[in-house]
Parts: sequence; structure tokens; C-alpha cells
Amino acid sequence: MANNGESQQNQVGRHQEVGHKSLLQSDDLYQYILETSVYPTEPESMKELRELTAKHPWNIMTTSADEGQFLSMLLKLINAKNTMEIGVYTGYSLLATALALPEDGKILAMDINRENYELGLPVIQKAGVAHKIDFREGPAMPLLDQLIEDEKNHGSFDFIFVDADKDNYLNYHKRLIELVKVGGVIGYDNTLWNGTVVAPPDAPLRKYVRYYRDFVLELNKALPADPRIEICMLPVGDGVTLCRRIK
Ligand SMILES: C[S@@+](CC[C@H](N)C(=O)[O-])C[C@H]1O[C@@H](n2cnc3c(N)ncnc32)[C@H](O)[C@@H]1O
Repeated sequence: MANNGESQQNQVGRHQEVGHKSLLQSDDLYQYILETSVYPTEPESMKELRELTAKHPWNIMTTSADEGQFLSMLLKLINAKNTMEIGVYTGYSLLATALALPEDGKILAMDINRENYELGLPVIQKAGVAHKIDFREGPAMPLLDQLIEDEKNHGSFDFIFVDADKDNYLNYHKRLIELVKVGGVIGYDNTLWNGTVVAPPDAPLRKYVRYYRDFVLELNKALPADPRIEICMLPVGDGVTLCRRIK
């Protein structure tokens, strides 16, 4: 039986048991990724929107630049055309999506807050991609229920990005799985919830962090058990779980 010291060491090194290493060892390494790969290729409009959003009091909500780059690459790889976004804020991920889609691509974008969307809208318009966006103000759930009512929307979305109220992700999933096409992808954001998914139960967490953490943990358990999808959890941004519908 391992002594305490050994078992602690085992805890620390569990992911290394078969020689695997976590690559992101420091903030410097993250900064290196941003400066080497992300910022030099970030479209001017996304840079402008990122800088504008940085001055907003709720800037913590924005999608990070590396995640924006990742979404852009993913959308192009899967040739996405018809997409949905739940949770727009000032529109960084929305702009990344709009720029990545073909000229006749579409994004059905939902948010309860129009004001923040309108902050970023002039940048999106200047980038010449606003025509791809159908923005709907209001809670996503009733809009999803409306979409589900019409059979022609079933299996019609190539990509859906969910970055809104975490306590509803599983409710969204029940509907989105009908709306995404077989072979299409749903991306759930914040599935590592600032690392708190591995915090001990008594860790001192802010009230809202603790509240949403339970829902994130529930989602993280439910997705791998859903036979209709195959998943991949990526440590990009605050963690993003990709779900590819397979049936
Ligand atoms: C993390 S932010 C989205 C960030 C955005 N993807 C970006 O790139 O900046 C979450 C957004 O979800 C919106 N939201 C919260 N509850 C919602 C709901 N029930 N339906 C739709 N949007 C909601 C908030 O207003 C907020 O703008």
C-alpha cells in the first residue's frame, strides 16, 4: 500500500502514468501561444472587437482570442454553413463564426441582452459579415422550442455554439440534439469552469461559481454517457466540449 507521500505524488502525476504530459505549464506558455500563433493571424476586426470588449465591465465573459481562432478553424474544417450561437455578449465568437462561414452562411444568434450585442455590431458591420447574422433577443429556451416545433429545422444545423446560462445546458442539449444534423457539432463552452471542476467540495468559491459548477459537473457526466454523440473535451479557453452527433 502506498504511503501518504507516494499517494500524493500519484495524485499529482496521474495523467503522466503512461507518459502523457500536460503541455500548458504556465501563463508564459499561454502568452506564447497568443503571441506566436493567435495575435499575428487575428483578423483586424476581431482585434478591434477584442480591444473594445476589454474596456467593458463584464469583459470576463468574452471568448478568448485562442478560442476564437479555434472556432474559426473548426468551422472551416467542417464546412459549416448553417449555425447557431446561444450567448453572444459583444460578439467576439459571433464575429469569428461570421468571418469563417461562406458568403451565404447563416448564424441564428440568441441573447437576452441586445445592448451588448449592439456595442460590437458596428465592428461586425464594418467587417462586412452582418448579413449572415439573425440576432434574436430573448431567452434561448422558448426560441429553441419554437424551432423544434417546425420539423424542417430538425437536423438542419451544421454547428451550434453554446456559451450562456450553464444551468440550462442540459435542457438545451435535449433540444439541440434534434436540431443539429447527424455529423454536425455542438460546442459547449466553459466545461472546465475556471478549473473548479476539480476543486474540493469545501473549496472557497464565489457563490455564482459554486452554483454553476454543479451544473457543469452534471453536464460533464451526462455528455460522455449520451450514445447519440461522440465527444472531445478540449482545454481551450475555459474548456470546450465538442459533441459530434452520430445518430
Ligand atoms: C459568456 S457570455 C457569451 C460570450 C460570447 N460568446 C462572446 O464571444 O463574447 C454569456 C451570454 O449569455 C447570455 N445569456 C444568459 N442567459 C441567457 C439565456 N437564457 N438565453 C440567451 N442568452 C443568455 C448573457 O446575456 C451573455 O451575453
